[in-house]
Amino acid sequence: MAESAAASTQELERAALDSLAAAKSETELEDWRIAYLGRRGELSVRLRSVGSLPAEQRREAGASLNRLKSRLTTAFDEAVQTASQSGRETAPLDAIDITLPGRRSKLGGLHPSEMMMREILEVFNDMGFQTVEGPIVELEKYNFDMLNVPPDHPARDLQDTLWIDRKSRDKVLLRTQTSPMQIRTMEKQKPPVRIVSPGLCFRHEATDATHEWQFHQVEGLAVDEGVTMSDLKGTLYEFTRRIFGTQRKIRFRCDYFPFVEPGVDVSVDWNGRWVEIMGAGMVHPKVLEGVGYDSSKYTGFAFGMGPERIAMLRYNIEDIRHFFSNDLRFLSQF
Ligand code: DAH
Repeated sequence: MAESAAASTQELERAALDSLAAAKSETELEDWRIAYLGRRGELSVRLRSVGSLPAEQRREAGASLNRLKSRLTTAFDEAVQTASQSGRETAPLDAIDITLPGRRSKLGGLHPSEMMMREILEVFNDMGFQTVEGPIVELEKYNFDMLNVPPDHPARDLQDTLWIDRKSRDKVLLRTQTSPMQIRTMEKQKPPVRIVSPGLCFRHEATDATHEWQFHQVEGLAVDEGVTMSDLKGTLYEFTRRIFGTQRKIRFRCDYFPFVEPGVDVSVDWNGRWVEIMGAGMVHPKVLEGVGYDSSKYTGFAFGMGPERIAMLRYNIEDIRHFFSNDLRFLSQF
């Protein structure tokens, strides 16, 4: 009796393994599992019937059925794994030529505007000016009013503005210049002040070779007791020497900007032509008073320049629109 039980266990194992080998799909495998290992499968039925065997056979029969169960479980797990692997596509070995050189990924670089700006900032940092940055989305009062440009002032027409919100009490715009950083800085600190402030500006403008609706500026401001026009000239001469070399001719000319008095424009000689690179001047007393500075005690100078304009002169770039056209043929030259 014990022998025939053993023989039938072997038969069961062979039959189970044969039909497992034949099961290929997920459903066939699952059917197999139910038939052999399931709660009402072949093995469970036999295990349950062990109890009705004569007492001296129970132990051995139970143990051998349990060993079979664990072998079949292992075989089933392996079959499932093999099936899931063969389902995946594998590339034939010769599809990869490992002797080919790898593809080099291109490194990016700094944008020419950014490069120029950093160079400009460095010159002023060396002279003791600290870099500060401010918001691109700006309040009207900082961009215009507190810079001595009241609402109906004709100077507003010079800077066609992109408005974000014209209805709220504090009107919001895209800054047309970095000059608002003069006000924001002075509101926060007492003299002496020496700052430069770089960043993007926007104007609602028809574009041409020297005008873009988006451009950078670097603003500068120095306020202290006894600051004079000669400090302005000395500082800006030193700046142009560092950027354009000692041989380049520089011209200062009277100009009008509402927040300075007197105001100047600064031009550099470019192949016999004067090209304006920045506006500057002595900070208007109204601007100083507006932030609570005593204008009988403090004076200052301010300047604002366009890094794109300066880069154009430096690198002979004929059209400012190249800077923001994202053309790699242009950008990768820097
Ligand atoms: N913000 C002026 C502009 O965009 C440039 C400028 C001129 C800035 C004179 C200054 C300044 O600080 O003193 O046209």
